[in-house]
Amino acid sequence: MDTLAQTARALVAPGKGILAADESIGTMSKRLEAAGVPANPETRRAYRDLLVTTPGLTESISGVILCDETLRQSVAGGPPFPQACAARGILPGIKVDTGAKPLAGRPGETVTEGLDGLRERLSEYARMGAAFAKWRGVITIAEQLPTPAGVAANAHALARYAALCQEAGIVPIVEPEVLMDGEHTIERCAAVSTETLQTVFAQLIEQGVALEGVVLKPNMIVAGKGHGEQPSAEEVAAATVGVMRRTVPAAVPGIAFLSGGQPPTVATVHLQALQQLGPQPWALTFSYGRALVDPALAAWRGDAGNVGAAQDALAHRARCNAAAAAGRYSRELEPAAA
Ligand code: 13P
Repeated sequence: MDTLAQTARALVAPGKGILAADESIGTMSKRLEAAGVPANPETRRAYRDLLVTTPGLTESISGVILCDETLRQSVAGGPPFPQACAARGILPGIKVDTGAKPLAGRPGETVTEGLDGLRERLSEYARMGAAFAKWRGVITIAEQLPTPAGVAANAHALARYAALCQEAGIVPIVEPEVLMDGEHTIERCAAVSTETLQTVFAQLIEQGVALEGVVLKPNMIVAGKGHGEQPSAEEVAAATVGVMRRTVPAAVPGIAFLSGGQPPTVATVHLQALQQLGPQPWALTFSYGRALVDPALAAWRGDAGNVGAAQDALAHRARCNAAAAAGRYSRELEPAAA
């Protein structure tokens, strides 16, 4: 347990956050193609290579989440990705769920799969060097959704995954994502997120997961993307901290938020606003995917000549978010303000 707790604390170390670069082959291929890059194992490898070899990344990034394909690939002229990350002082992580699938009898809801054979996969990932893992449960807000059954199924799977991870000596990132899709209010997001987190922690405790050795990766409390008037950063921060304080035990070392479709600078401003509310029982940081890498992917466009510009773009967003995690971000750090 000491090692698990140490790894969990390292992932949420002061002024550092996590880079989520674990898109499935399908999702990554779509994002590459949308950026004008043909999708194949080599372009997916080259893209992840430029991300993890970004100079100075270790100053702001504690861990990188990879997918199964990348974990088995190597950086150009170098070691496999897990060892390349470790050599830079960055913890390698692995996404172990196999995706959200329709939940039987519950139209519009999903349950995340991947528990069958997970013990064996985790022991292989541990041998390959993975220090932590990720599993994402997805909760959709609609007029009649989520149902208690949908929330319970996802919480149960998250807890079984987390228990198996700890058995293998791997820190589980527990990610129950309440989606931003929809026109709902911030109050509705708060209510659904509260119910979801209460159910998740009840399951984690019931299944004997040591809370000192997990990292929670939730959504921030925001209004739906389609909601007319978007709340201010101060409103998002107050609602987010309120929900977390009511649901997340103090034994959890850190909360690393997903970006969930927030534009990159908005995700940074929200993280900064969270720190303005003063010290909390847990570290509050980022585990962003799109909000960290979108500008880098747009700069790269699959051209080796653009690797430097892409790495600069990633390093910049990583630095801004690390500053926000430490409560030291301001708009002056953005080039547009210069
Ligand atoms: P986003 O920050 O793009 O939401 O991705 C985080 C993640 O890991 C989703 O599972």
